[in-house]
Amino acid sequence: MAQETAADWWRTAVVYQVYPRSFADSDGNGIGDLEGVRAHVDHLVALGVDAVWLSPFYPSALADGGYDIDDYRDVAPELGTLADFDAMTEALHAHGIKVVVDIVPNHTSDRHRWFPAALAAGRGSDERDRYVFREGKGPDGTEPPTDWESDFGGSAWTRVEDGQWYLHLFAPEQPDLNWDRRDVREEFLTTLRFWADRGVDGFRVDVANLLVKDLTEPLPDRAALRTLTDGNHPYEDRDAVQEVYAEWRTLFDSYDPPRMAVAEAWVPAHRRARYASPQSLGQAFNFDLLTAPWAPGAWRDVITENLDLAAESGSTSTWVLSNHDVIRHPTRYGITAAAGQPNEIGYIPAFGVDPSITVDEELGARRARAATLLMLALPGSAYVYQGEELGLFEVADIPAEQRQDPTFFRTGGQRLGRDGCRVPLPWTSEPPSFGFSPADASAPPHLPQPAWFGGFSVEREAGDDASSLSLYRAALRLRRALTQGEGLIWEASGPEVLHVVRVGGWHVLTNFGDEPVDVPSGEVVLTSGPLVDGQVPTDTTVWVRA
Ligand code: NOJ
Repeated sequence: MAQETAADWWRTAVVYQVYPRSFADSDGNGIGDLEGVRAHVDHLVALGVDAVWLSPFYPSALADGGYDIDDYRDVAPELGTLADFDAMTEALHAHGIKVVVDIVPNHTSDRHRWFPAALAAGRGSDERDRYVFREGKGPDGTEPPTDWESDFGGSAWTRVEDGQWYLHLFAPEQPDLNWDRRDVREEFLTTLRFWADRGVDGFRVDVANLLVKDLTEPLPDRAALRTLTDGNHPYEDRDAVQEVYAEWRTLFDSYDPPRMAVAEAWVPAHRRARYASPQSLGQAFNFDLLTAPWAPGAWRDVITENLDLAAESGSTSTWVLSNHDVIRHPTRYGITAAAGQPNEIGYIPAFGVDPSITVDEELGARRARAATLLMLALPGSAYVYQGEELGLFEVADIPAEQRQDPTFFRTGGQRLGRDGCRVPLPWTSEPPSFGFSPADASAPPHLPQPAWFGGFSVEREAGDDASSLSLYRAALRLRRALTQGEGLIWEASGPEVLHVVRVGGWHVLTNFGDEPVDVPSGEVVLTSGPLVDGQVPTDTTVWVRA
């Protein structure tokens, strides 16, 4: 049996992602808060997760859901105080649940103390050099320095009063930092120390691949950018970004136990090991299941490739089906019309906009359950996004005037954006807020909850053996009991079936095909759906102890 030490808990952890503004509201202002997390630690304990990763809870004007940070070493007043953070951490730690916080190093918000200082100090100043300012093109410099697009749509450059332009790969309220500067590097080391000293166990690093840039003129145009890969791109995944993480790693390893970190880096699979190596952040998100179609060949390729890559990096693989940036996977698996890529960050092209794209919820839910049991049986660490355990679908029908995501506004509604997976959680079946806020709340939940949320509440599902919540609870409990090491072998199976065996004789079989197949011999300990005449029907996963 593999012996885990205190230092490498993250290698096999199930990490639950909390999007704090939408988890639980303790004070009735319609916004989830840190005390809400503390008050629901029992849910996380019953679920059986090893760690919680909190999306940003720092002061922010919410131009991008909190990923626009005003102050990296404080708590947003509407979410609580540093004392609340400590109380929450203590409550989680009391149950052996680790705490991972989100660090956003590529950009600050435009309200961070450095940005107004940069505007005030003017051209050529040190203050301005902390960001990426350039002169514009055209006779009066009225055109942006390049035709680059922001990730949320629209130009990646915004002009300031004195005529210079600054780079923002995301919203204009998120100016990119200049990581060539020592003071920028020092500032983040101070922030990491601040949270590590408070007892935080790890860090999720936002767009870890973008920090270091080479903006030597002439800059390539948008079309040329797409052809530049593997370290040649002016801002994506440059080799020198690893120097930043080597320094962070030294800091992380100066703690006992060392602090873990996980890179959010949308890079090609063969570049992922750089971020996951023990000299770098140590772990990286693998989003390949999230972008894979529901098909046995695609899943097998993703699993094989990522286990190889993990071995190469010295890390373990991570597995992700949903997060706060993408369409919830029961909806994704239920989309019946050809909708371009199965999932892109934040949207499926035209989802919610093109009425011909419909969702078969029964199909989506069945596949989501089967996918979950297959994912949770894989060697490595699984990331579970809040509400996933309830089987929530994407909320597609949020009125335009109540939407918050800059993607929606910057594309004129062509991309619905990510609000649909960020709707406040249902805890009870009772409107008006399904237990998200106290009964005497002074404001409604900050994003509107649909009426059907009541049927997906924690309260309702906890009392139903067939619910998604019951499935997740059983799966996480059994995963602990059945895991005996990181090995995995493939059993021969028909073309529509995947059958893997973990060390110690834990068989996992998923039937992607239409025809029922036989259950592997042994004791059936969990199924994602009912067996039919003793066989595994379509879109179903079964766990068997040999
Ligand atoms: C990735 C985060 O997951 C996403 O929510 C955010 O909008 C961008 N990075 C920019 O910080």
